[in-house]
Amino acid sequence: MPRELPPLDVLLPLDRAGATLAPEPGEPALHALYAHPEPRPGRPTAVRANMIATLDGSAQGPDGRSRSINGPADWRVFRVMRAVADVVLVGAGTARAEGYTPLTVPADLREARTARGQAPGLELAVVTVSGDLPPGLRGTDRPPHVVVPQACPRIDALRAEVGADRVVVAGAATVDLPRALAALAARGLTRVLAEGGPRLLTDLVQAELVDELCLTSSPVLVGGPGLRAVQGPDWVTPQPARAAHLLHHAGMLLGRWRLGPDA
Ligand SMILES: NC(=O)c1ccc[n+]([C@@H]2O[C@H](COP(=O)([O-])OP(=O)(O)OC[C@H]3O[C@@H](n4cnc5c(N)ncnc54)[C@H](OP(=O)(O)O)[C@@H]3O)[C@@H](O)[C@H]2O)c1
Repeated sequence: MPRELPPLDVLLPLDRAGATLAPEPGEPALHALYAHPEPRPGRPTAVRANMIATLDGSAQGPDGRSRSINGPADWRVFRVMRAVADVVLVGAGTARAEGYTPLTVPADLREARTARGQAPGLELAVVTVSGDLPPGLRGTDRPPHVVVPQACPRIDALRAEVGADRVVVAGAATVDLPRALAALAARGLTRVLAEGGPRLLTDLVQAELVDELCLTSSPVLVGGPGLRAVQGPDWVTPQPARAAHLLHHAGMLLGRWRLGPDA
Protein backbone atom coordinates (compact mmCIF):
# COMPACT_ATOMS: atom_id res chain seq x y z
CA MET A 1 0.00 0.00 0.00
CA PRO A 2 1.43 3.42 -0.92
CA ARG A 3 2.68 5.18 2.23
CA GLU A 4 1.50 8.66 1.30
CA LEU A 5 -2.21 7.86 1.65
CA PRO A 6 -3.71 10.17 4.32
CA PRO A 7 -6.25 9.46 7.07
CA LEU A 8 -9.83 10.53 6.34
CA ASP A 9 -12.25 12.06 8.88
CA VAL A 10 -15.88 10.97 8.71
CA LEU A 11 -18.21 14.03 8.75
CA LEU A 12 -21.37 12.24 7.59
CA PRO A 13 -23.31 10.12 8.38
CA LEU A 14 -23.80 11.80 11.75
CA ASP A 15 -23.77 8.52 13.68
CA ARG A 16 -20.17 7.94 12.53
CA ALA A 17 -19.04 11.56 12.60
CA GLY A 18 -15.69 12.09 14.31
CA ALA A 19 -14.27 8.70 13.35
CA THR A 20 -10.96 8.66 11.50
CA LEU A 21 -10.25 6.14 8.76
CA ALA A 22 -6.53 5.45 8.84
CA PRO A 23 -5.06 3.81 5.72
CA GLU A 24 -5.04 0.05 6.20
CA PRO A 25 -3.98 -2.93 4.07
CA GLY A 26 -6.81 -3.84 1.71
CA GLU A 27 -8.82 -0.77 2.86
CA PRO A 28 -11.78 -2.73 4.37
CA ALA A 29 -13.40 0.39 5.89
CA LEU A 30 -13.29 2.25 2.59
CA HIS A 31 -14.59 -0.83 0.78
CA ALA A 32 -17.61 -0.79 3.11
CA LEU A 33 -18.25 2.90 2.39
CA TYR A 34 -17.62 2.66 -1.34
CA ALA A 35 -19.25 -0.66 -2.25
CA HIS A 36 -20.41 -0.24 -5.82
CA PRO A 37 -24.16 0.43 -6.01
CA GLU A 38 -26.49 -2.31 -7.25
CA PRO A 39 -28.36 -1.80 -10.54
CA ARG A 40 -31.83 -0.32 -10.10
CA PRO A 41 -34.66 -2.76 -10.93
CA GLY A 42 -34.83 -3.23 -14.69
CA ARG A 43 -31.42 -1.66 -15.30
CA PRO A 44 -28.50 -3.75 -16.66
CA THR A 45 -25.80 -1.67 -14.99
CA ALA A 46 -25.18 0.50 -11.95
CA VAL A 47 -23.37 3.74 -12.82
CA ARG A 48 -21.26 5.58 -10.28
CA ALA A 49 -19.75 8.87 -11.46
CA ASN A 50 -16.57 10.21 -9.88
CA MET A 51 -15.48 13.83 -10.32
CA ILE A 52 -13.45 16.47 -8.54
CA ALA A 53 -14.13 20.21 -8.65
CA THR A 54 -12.63 23.33 -7.10
CA LEU A 55 -14.54 25.42 -4.55
CA ASP A 56 -15.63 27.68 -7.40
CA GLY A 57 -16.93 24.69 -9.35
CA SER A 58 -14.24 24.07 -11.95
CA ALA A 59 -13.56 20.48 -13.00
CA GLN A 60 -10.34 21.66 -14.65
CA GLY A 61 -7.31 23.31 -13.14
CA PRO A 62 -5.14 25.90 -14.85
CA ASP A 63 -3.30 23.04 -16.63
CA GLY A 64 -6.58 22.22 -18.43
CA ARG A 65 -6.77 18.91 -16.60
CA SER A 66 -7.84 17.62 -13.20
CA ARG A 67 -4.33 16.67 -12.06
CA SER A 68 -3.63 20.16 -10.72
CA ILE A 69 -6.71 20.13 -8.47
CA ASN A 70 -6.60 16.63 -6.94
CA GLY A 71 -4.51 15.31 -4.08
CA PRO A 72 -3.69 12.28 -1.93
CA ALA A 73 -7.08 12.14 -0.13
CA ASP A 74 -8.89 12.01 -3.45
CA TRP A 75 -6.39 9.45 -4.71
CA ARG A 76 -7.07 7.21 -1.70
CA VAL A 77 -10.78 6.83 -2.51
CA PHE A 78 -10.24 6.96 -6.28
CA ARG A 79 -8.20 3.75 -6.19
CA VAL A 80 -10.88 1.95 -4.12
CA MET A 81 -13.66 3.08 -6.46
CA ARG A 82 -11.69 1.71 -9.39
CA ALA A 83 -11.02 -1.54 -7.54
CA VAL A 84 -14.75 -2.21 -7.00
CA ALA A 85 -15.75 -1.38 -10.60
CA ASP A 86 -15.82 -3.72 -13.59
CA VAL A 87 -15.27 -0.97 -16.14
CA VAL A 88 -14.27 2.68 -16.22
CA LEU A 89 -16.35 4.63 -18.74
CA VAL A 90 -14.77 7.81 -20.02
CA GLY A 91 -15.28 10.34 -22.80
CA ALA A 92 -12.57 10.44 -25.43
CA GLY A 93 -11.85 14.10 -24.58
CA THR A 94 -10.84 13.08 -21.08
CA ALA A 95 -8.91 10.02 -22.29
CA ARG A 96 -6.92 12.36 -24.57
CA ALA A 97 -6.50 15.25 -22.08
CA GLU A 98 -5.50 13.02 -19.17
CA GLY A 99 -3.44 10.60 -21.26
CA TYR A 100 -5.29 7.42 -20.30
CA THR A 101 -3.44 4.13 -20.58
CA PRO A 102 -4.73 0.58 -19.76
CA LEU A 103 -5.98 0.41 -16.17
CA THR A 104 -4.71 -1.75 -13.36
CA VAL A 105 -6.06 -2.56 -9.91
CA PRO A 106 -3.55 -1.65 -7.16
CA ALA A 107 -1.84 -4.77 -5.79
CA ASP A 108 -3.15 -4.33 -2.23
CA LEU A 109 -6.77 -4.21 -3.44
CA ARG A 110 -6.69 -7.22 -5.76
CA GLU A 111 -7.41 -9.91 -3.18
CA ALA A 112 -10.68 -8.30 -2.05
CA ARG A 113 -11.66 -7.86 -5.68
CA THR A 114 -11.26 -11.49 -6.63
CA ALA A 115 -12.92 -12.53 -3.34
CA ARG A 116 -16.02 -10.61 -4.52
CA GLY A 117 -15.95 -12.74 -7.68
CA GLN A 118 -14.85 -9.89 -9.94
CA ALA A 119 -12.45 -10.43 -12.82
CA PRO A 120 -8.91 -9.45 -11.82
CA GLY A 121 -8.59 -6.95 -14.68
CA LEU A 122 -10.29 -3.54 -14.72
CA GLU A 123 -11.67 -2.71 -18.17
CA LEU A 124 -11.79 0.70 -19.84
CA ALA A 125 -14.51 1.88 -22.23
CA VAL A 126 -14.01 5.08 -24.24
CA VAL A 127 -17.02 6.93 -25.69
CA THR A 128 -16.26 8.73 -28.95
CA VAL A 129 -17.74 9.87 -32.25
CA SER A 130 -14.42 10.62 -33.94
CA GLY A 131 -12.83 7.30 -32.95
CA ASP A 132 -9.65 9.20 -32.07
CA LEU A 133 -7.95 7.32 -29.21
CA PRO A 134 -4.95 8.74 -27.32
CA PRO A 135 -1.52 7.21 -28.03
CA GLY A 136 -1.46 5.39 -24.68
CA LEU A 137 -4.48 3.30 -25.72
CA ARG A 138 -3.20 2.36 -29.17
CA GLY A 139 -1.07 -0.65 -30.00
CA THR A 140 -1.42 -2.05 -26.48
CA ASP A 141 -2.06 -5.68 -25.56
CA ARG A 142 -4.84 -4.45 -23.22
CA PRO A 143 -6.98 -2.37 -25.60
CA PRO A 144 -10.06 -0.51 -24.36
CA HIS A 145 -13.65 -1.08 -25.39
CA VAL A 146 -14.60 1.74 -27.75
CA VAL A 147 -18.22 2.94 -27.76
CA VAL A 148 -19.21 4.68 -30.99
CA PRO A 149 -22.31 5.59 -33.02
CA GLN A 150 -22.75 4.38 -36.60
CA ALA A 151 -21.56 7.84 -37.73
CA CYS A 152 -18.04 7.17 -36.44
CA PRO A 153 -15.70 7.34 -39.46
CA ARG A 154 -13.18 4.89 -37.93
CA ILE A 155 -15.34 1.85 -37.08
CA ASP A 156 -13.41 -0.53 -39.37
CA ALA A 157 -10.06 0.90 -38.28
CA LEU A 158 -11.05 0.55 -34.62
CA ARG A 159 -12.15 -3.07 -35.16
CA ALA A 160 -8.71 -3.80 -36.61
CA GLU A 161 -7.01 -1.90 -33.79
CA VAL A 162 -8.81 -3.12 -30.64
CA GLY A 163 -10.62 -6.22 -31.92
CA ALA A 164 -14.17 -6.41 -33.31
CA ASP A 165 -15.61 -7.65 -30.01
CA ARG A 166 -14.38 -4.48 -28.27
CA VAL A 167 -16.11 -2.03 -30.59
CA VAL A 168 -19.61 -1.27 -29.30
CA VAL A 169 -21.77 0.44 -31.92
CA ALA A 170 -24.78 2.06 -30.26
CA GLY A 171 -26.83 4.82 -31.87
CA ALA A 172 -26.80 6.50 -35.27
CA ALA A 173 -25.35 10.04 -35.16
CA THR A 174 -24.59 10.10 -31.43
CA VAL A 175 -23.98 7.36 -28.91
CA ASP A 176 -27.16 5.84 -27.51
CA LEU A 177 -25.98 5.58 -23.89
CA PRO A 178 -28.67 3.15 -22.57
CA ARG A 179 -27.84 0.76 -25.42
CA ALA A 180 -24.14 1.21 -24.82
CA LEU A 181 -24.54 0.31 -21.14
CA ALA A 182 -26.64 -2.74 -22.06
CA ALA A 183 -23.86 -3.83 -24.44
CA LEU A 184 -21.26 -3.48 -21.68
CA ALA A 185 -23.50 -5.49 -19.32
CA ALA A 186 -23.75 -8.21 -21.97
CA ARG A 187 -19.94 -8.42 -21.72
CA GLY A 188 -20.25 -8.96 -17.96
CA LEU A 189 -19.41 -5.33 -17.12
CA THR A 190 -22.27 -4.23 -14.86
CA ARG A 191 -20.42 -2.07 -12.31
CA VAL A 192 -19.66 1.09 -14.27
CA LEU A 193 -17.44 3.87 -12.94
CA ALA A 194 -17.92 7.00 -15.06
CA GLU A 195 -14.87 9.25 -14.78
CA GLY A 196 -16.25 12.07 -16.95
CA GLY A 197 -15.57 14.33 -18.50
CA PRO A 198 -18.23 16.96 -18.18
CA ARG A 199 -19.76 16.36 -21.60
CA LEU A 200 -20.18 12.62 -21.12
CA LEU A 201 -21.39 13.10 -17.56
CA THR A 202 -23.95 15.66 -18.74
CA ASP A 203 -25.30 13.17 -21.28
CA LEU A 204 -25.43 10.40 -18.66
CA VAL A 205 -27.19 12.69 -16.15
CA GLN A 206 -29.65 13.97 -18.74
CA ALA A 207 -30.52 10.35 -19.60
CA GLU A 208 -30.99 9.67 -15.85
CA LEU A 209 -28.41 6.89 -15.99
CA VAL A 210 -26.27 7.94 -13.01
CA ASP A 211 -27.09 6.16 -9.75
CA GLU A 212 -24.46 7.78 -7.61
CA LEU A 213 -22.13 10.78 -7.82
CA CYS A 214 -18.89 10.85 -5.86
CA LEU A 215 -17.84 14.48 -5.93
CA THR A 216 -14.72 15.81 -4.27
CA SER A 217 -14.48 19.51 -3.42
CA SER A 218 -10.89 20.60 -3.69
CA PRO A 219 -9.97 23.53 -1.41
CA VAL A 220 -8.77 25.91 -4.09
CA LEU A 221 -10.20 28.74 -6.20
CA VAL A 222 -9.14 28.98 -9.84
CA GLY A 223 -11.60 31.32 -11.60
CA GLY A 224 -11.00 30.95 -15.33
CA PRO A 225 -12.95 29.22 -18.07
CA GLY A 226 -12.94 25.69 -16.62
CA LEU A 227 -15.83 23.33 -17.29
CA ARG A 228 -18.07 22.38 -14.35
CA ALA A 229 -18.53 18.68 -13.57
CA VAL A 230 -21.86 18.71 -15.41
CA GLN A 231 -22.00 21.32 -18.13
CA GLY A 232 -23.61 21.59 -21.52
CA PRO A 233 -25.47 24.16 -23.60
CA ASP A 234 -28.83 23.21 -22.12
CA TRP A 235 -30.11 22.77 -18.58
CA VAL A 236 -30.49 19.15 -17.55
CA THR A 237 -33.65 18.06 -15.83
CA PRO A 238 -32.89 18.91 -12.18
CA GLN A 239 -32.00 15.76 -10.26
CA PRO A 240 -32.15 15.83 -6.48
CA ALA A 241 -29.31 14.12 -4.65
CA ARG A 242 -29.11 12.63 -1.15
CA ALA A 243 -25.86 12.69 0.82
CA ALA A 244 -24.72 9.16 1.61
CA HIS A 245 -21.48 10.17 3.30
CA LEU A 246 -18.92 12.96 3.53
CA LEU A 247 -15.25 12.48 4.32
CA HIS A 248 -12.54 15.06 4.94
CA HIS A 249 -8.79 15.54 4.84
CA ALA A 250 -6.92 18.86 4.86
CA GLY A 251 -9.86 20.80 3.49
CA MET A 252 -10.61 18.24 0.76
CA LEU A 253 -14.28 17.17 1.11
CA LEU A 254 -15.22 13.83 -0.39
CA GLY A 255 -18.96 13.40 -0.86
CA ARG A 256 -20.96 10.41 -2.04
CA TRP A 257 -24.39 11.39 -3.32
CA ARG A 258 -27.27 9.07 -4.29
CA LEU A 259 -29.26 10.09 -7.36
CA GLY A 260 -32.46 8.71 -8.80
CA PRO A 261 -35.75 7.62 -7.29
CA ASP A 262 -34.37 6.64 -3.88
CA ALA A 263 -32.48 9.94 -3.38
N1 LIG B 1 -12.39 17.12 -12.50
C1 LIG B 1 -12.65 15.91 -12.92
O1 LIG B 1 -12.98 15.03 -12.13
C2 LIG B 1 -12.54 15.60 -14.38
C3 LIG B 1 -12.92 14.34 -14.85
C4 LIG B 1 -12.82 14.08 -16.20
C5 LIG B 1 -12.36 15.06 -17.06
N2 LIG B 1 -12.00 16.26 -16.57
C6 LIG B 1 -11.50 17.31 -17.50
O2 LIG B 1 -12.54 17.66 -18.39
C7 LIG B 1 -11.96 18.06 -19.63
C8 LIG B 1 -12.64 17.35 -20.77
O3 LIG B 1 -13.99 17.71 -20.77
P1 LIG B 1 -15.03 17.19 -21.87
O4 LIG B 1 -16.38 17.57 -21.47
O5 LIG B 1 -14.55 17.57 -23.22
O6 LIG B 1 -14.79 15.62 -21.69
P2 LIG B 1 -15.33 14.31 -22.33
O7 LIG B 1 -16.80 14.15 -22.18
O8 LIG B 1 -14.47 13.25 -21.77
O9 LIG B 1 -14.93 14.47 -23.84
C9 LIG B 1 -15.73 14.95 -24.86
C10 LIG B 1 -15.48 14.02 -26.04
O10 LIG B 1 -15.79 12.68 -25.63
C11 LIG B 1 -16.64 12.07 -26.55
N3 LIG B 1 -17.99 12.05 -26.00
C12 LIG B 1 -18.37 12.53 -24.78
N4 LIG B 1 -19.68 12.27 -24.60
C13 LIG B 1 -20.10 11.62 -25.70
C14 LIG B 1 -21.35 11.08 -26.10
N5 LIG B 1 -22.43 11.13 -25.31
N6 LIG B 1 -21.43 10.49 -27.30
C15 LIG B 1 -20.34 10.42 -28.10
N7 LIG B 1 -19.11 10.90 -27.79
C16 LIG B 1 -19.02 11.49 -26.60
C17 LIG B 1 -16.50 12.91 -27.82
O11 LIG B 1 -15.27 12.44 -28.36
P3 LIG B 1 -14.73 12.65 -29.85
O12 LIG B 1 -14.25 14.07 -29.88
O13 LIG B 1 -13.61 11.67 -29.95
O14 LIG B 1 -15.85 12.39 -30.79
C18 LIG B 1 -16.37 14.30 -27.22
O15 LIG B 1 -15.77 15.23 -28.10
C19 LIG B 1 -10.48 17.80 -19.53
O16 LIG B 1 -9.83 18.98 -19.21
C20 LIG B 1 -10.37 16.82 -18.38
O17 LIG B 1 -9.14 16.92 -17.74
C21 LIG B 1 -12.08 16.56 -15.26
